[in-house]
Amino acid sequence: MGWLEGDVALITGGGSGIGRAVALRYLAEGGCVAVFGRDAEQLREVVKAAGELGERVLTVTGDVRSPEDLHRAVEATVERFGKLDALVPNAGIWDYHRSVTRLSGRELSAAFDELFAINVKGYLLAVEASWRELVRTRGSIVMTLSNASFHTDGGGSLYTASKHACLGLLRQFAYELAPKVRVNGVATGGMRTKLSGPESLGLQNRTLEASFAKNEKNEAFGEKSPPLIPLYDSSVEPEDFTGPYVLLASRANSGTVTGAVLPADGGIAVRGFRTAAGGIGLY
Ligand SMILES: NC(=O)c1ccc[n+]([C@@H]2O[C@H](COP(=O)([O-])OP(=O)(O)OC[C@H]3O[C@@H](n4cnc5c(N)ncnc54)[C@H](O)[C@@H]3O)[C@@H](O)[C@H]2O)c1
Repeated sequence: MGWLEGDVALITGGGSGIGRAVALRYLAEGGCVAVFGRDAEQLREVVKAAGELGERVLTVTGDVRSPEDLHRAVEATVERFGKLDALVPNAGIWDYHRSVTRLSGRELSAAFDELFAINVKGYLLAVEASWRELVRTRGSIVMTLSNASFHTDGGGSLYTASKHACLGLLRQFAYELAPKVRVNGVATGGMRTKLSGPESLGLQNRTLEASFAKNEKNEAFGEKSPPLIPLYDSSVEPEDFTGPYVLLASRANSGTVTGAVLPADGGIAVRGFRTAAGGIGLY
């Protein structure tokens, strides 16, 4: 028996990265998943990757900035699987560490509107479209948050502010939707994904995995140097982050947990002033 046997989840940005990894893990735990995203081909790939579990995957194309698209996704999920137990608001973009000193006011204004519309409004609208079905099942919401929901330097000011805003949404939703719906989050740390940037800054075709590849000798992820992030002594992949999503969606295992965030960021908060104390030489 999996931890999510018979449960139905809707995952925004489910076609790649952490959303895709969570979708495949929820399937392995016995659930059904609807993956929602902008790229139909990516979503079809998730069905293929699921193999024989692919019959428990529904794909819905749409944009998280559109309330209509999200309502259509919830309706299609309930029509196909009969209910909705978990929503995973996850679709997002990054700002590629653009600091305020590198951008003009005009650029900041356009990038703010674009990034906040996806990262923050996208979460708000996904919850609006889903809460009625989640109340019916006494279900839950598991948001993808970030180290940038708590700390600086996980991006520039736009991304950091957007992920702090998502923490505010999480807490307010946990308040507004109790006692029927639990609302929690997983604050993931850096990993190799296709995370792209705002079109308004010309960063829409960049991917984080390409940046990782360029920085192979980067101290945080290199083989020889001590890890900058305590638990990252080798590379981490999206699959490594899925456990907390299963835990928080599971009624049996976290039925009393709401308004909580599980940091799965390699221990950034215990990094100290220099690097992780032990490093790879610790034995
Ligand atoms: N990769 C990291 O290091 C990292 C670290 C912490 C948090 N996160 C967060 O994880 C979440 C997932 O990102 P990822 O790293 O897996 O990157 P990703 O690009 O692989 O996944 C994001 C998905 O969202 C989709 N998406 C983007 N804009 C959309 C829109 N307007 N409408 C519908 N779908 C849209 C993309 O097509 C993509 O499939 C994001 O919220 C990101 O901020 C990522």
